[in-house]
Order: sequence, then C-alpha cells, then structure tokens
Amino acid sequence: MKFGVLTGGGDCPGLNAAIRAVVYRATGHGHTVVGFLDGWKGVRDHLLRPLTRADVHDIVVRGGTILGSSRTNPFKSEEDATKVLSTLGAEGIDALVAIGGDDTLSAARELARRGGKVVGVPKTMDNDVGGTDWTFGFDSASTAAVEALARLRDTAHSHHRAIILEVMGRHAGWVALATGLGGAADATLLPEEPFDEEALIRHVRTAVSHRGYAIVVVSEGVDLGRPKGATGGQDEFGHELLRERGVGAEVGRRIEAATGIETRSAQIGHIQRGGPPTLFDRILATRLGVHAVDLALGGRFGEVAVLRGERVEGVPLEAALRAPKTVPAPWMDLLHAFDA
Ligand code: F6P
Repeated sequence: MKFGVLTGGGDCPGLNAAIRAVVYRATGHGHTVVGFLDGWKGVRDHLLRPLTRADVHDIVVRGGTILGSSRTNPFKSEEDATKVLSTLGAEGIDALVAIGGDDTLSAARELARRGGKVVGVPKTMDNDVGGTDWTFGFDSASTAAVEALARLRDTAHSHHRAIILEVMGRHAGWVALATGLGGAADATLLPEEPFDEEALIRHVRTAVSHRGYAIVVVSEGVDLGRPKGATGGQDEFGHELLRERGVGAEVGRRIEAATGIETRSAQIGHIQRGGPPTLFDRILATRLGVHAVDLALGGRFGEVAVLRGERVEGVPLEAALRAPKTVPAPWMDLLHAFDA
C-alpha cells in the first residue's frame, strides 16, 4: 500500500512523534509513505515528499512538524475538493492519515463521506476533540504554561502585584484548568463558566491579604460580556482569533480598577505551542499514529484512533466530531476548591 500522511491546523508538540509512528508502522509492514506538506494544502496543491525511516528516526524529540501545517480548508469550494481527489488518485494513495484537531478531522470526515480512504489521529493543545480522553499537545502546552506561571509568581511576589496569565485553548478551558491547578493560581477563569467579577476580586483580595500578591489564570476564550468578534479576524474555518481580544489584559485592568492593587498581565501565546513534547505526549502520539495505520490496514476507513482509559482504539470520525469536548462540572469543582 501507499500511505499518505498530513498534519493540519495549529501545530503542537507530538506531531513529529505521530508522523514517525505512521512511517515506522507502515514501512514495518512493507508499505511506503509520503508526507503531504502544510496540511490539506499539500493534498490540494499536490505538494509532498517521500518519508523513510531515515527521515523520521529521531524526530520524536522535536516540537513542530517536519511536514509543515496550515489551516487550509480543502472543501471550501468544489474546485478545491476536486483537486484533493485528483491528487490522491494521481499519487495512488491507498490510505491517508490525517493528523489534526476538529477542523482537520472534519475535512477528513468530508473526504470519507466522498469515498476517500482516510483515517484520523487527534491532536491539539486545546484538548477539545470529542471521543478521546486526551489529545497530545495538551500536556506539553500546559506544562509550558505552568512553567511561565512559576516565573510570573516570582515577580508578582517581589512587587506585591496581581499578575494575570492568559493562556490559549480556544473555547475549551482545559489548558487554563491544568495551568491553574498545576501552577497553584489564586483564581482561574474558564470559558465554560460565566464570568463572575465579584468572585474574582474576592479571590485576588484574599490572596493579597494573605501573602502580598495574587496569580490569576485566564483562558483566551472567556467571555467578558464585550461585543464578540470586534478585533480578532477569522481563520479559514471561520474561527475568531481569540487572543486578539486580549481578555487577560482586560481582566487585569478590571482588577486594578476595583482593588487599587498594582496589576500586570501576560499572554503566553504561541510560546506554549513550541518546544519538545513531554514524555506523555510522545508516547500518546506514538500509540495513536501506530493505531491509525492499523485501522487503515484493517480497512477501517472513516475512523479516528483515540485514547479511552488505558486503551487506544478506533471510533468513527462522525461520532468523535459530534461535539467538542469542554470542561465538565466535576473538573470545575476540583479547580475551585483551590481558589484563594
Ligand atoms: O487550536 C490551537 C490554538 O493554539 C488555539 O488555542 C488558539 O486559539 C489558536 O490555535 C491560535 O491559532 P493561530 O496559531 O492560527 O494563531
């Protein structure tokens, strides 16, 4: 068989580990692999390179993706859809492995609906893909945010300030939750919860009165009740670029206005998407990449490899993409047990 593999959407640590897993598993069974460049753009525009074991043998340790990525929506027009099918036909691709988040996988679902032989691997630092317990990229990105929070704590302590760290994660609060819990924040704001300014001010005052400084984590997707979409712009899948709204800075301004406590804010932004993957992400990406090849070898096209408990298994893309996975109430309860 000839396998194709692509990485689409926002990059995250672990993509290279997944590519390597696909190449090793497929070539281990005597098959060949090509990598499409820059996500679905490479399939649409016929941009690819061969992938051998020598190309990927040590990339498990590297962040980013050796194939490049983009937020190209290949089914934006029928013309583009035709190009996708024609590239796959011309190259004689027997199985395509699409590694990505909701958007990349929804394009895979569309390809499957049109008879394409495609399987999925979920990734995203946002951890918001349905059907899987965790996505790789999330652990690495949250670890980077926890490290940033520790640095901010030092300076907040020295200057007796409140400091806000705004983290990414889109409309799911997983990264903020992990950062707040793992980094001992005094308050953490998630997009899944209505913004409660009074409670926030209370937590900040309590923290400052106990030890002279406060640390707050804010998810970029938090709705502060301002008009939406005012400043951000959109990507090709129609998603607002949330960090442009600057909710962390706005929360900082409100805290300072309400309390008189000197307040600063920082956006970690894309720093949390780079760097080597954590061990957890390397192993998860490896397991999912191998399983995706096994799904294809078993003819289980239209499925995505997912983690459920200790097991890696295949579920239909249709089921996994039914709804994004957001933070449920028990996690919020745990998080807020540690508010100041
Ligand atoms: O989906 C991953 C993510 O990092 C989100 O958390 C964030 O909102 C978005 O991508 C940023 O997108 P871009 O890299 O296109 O600016």
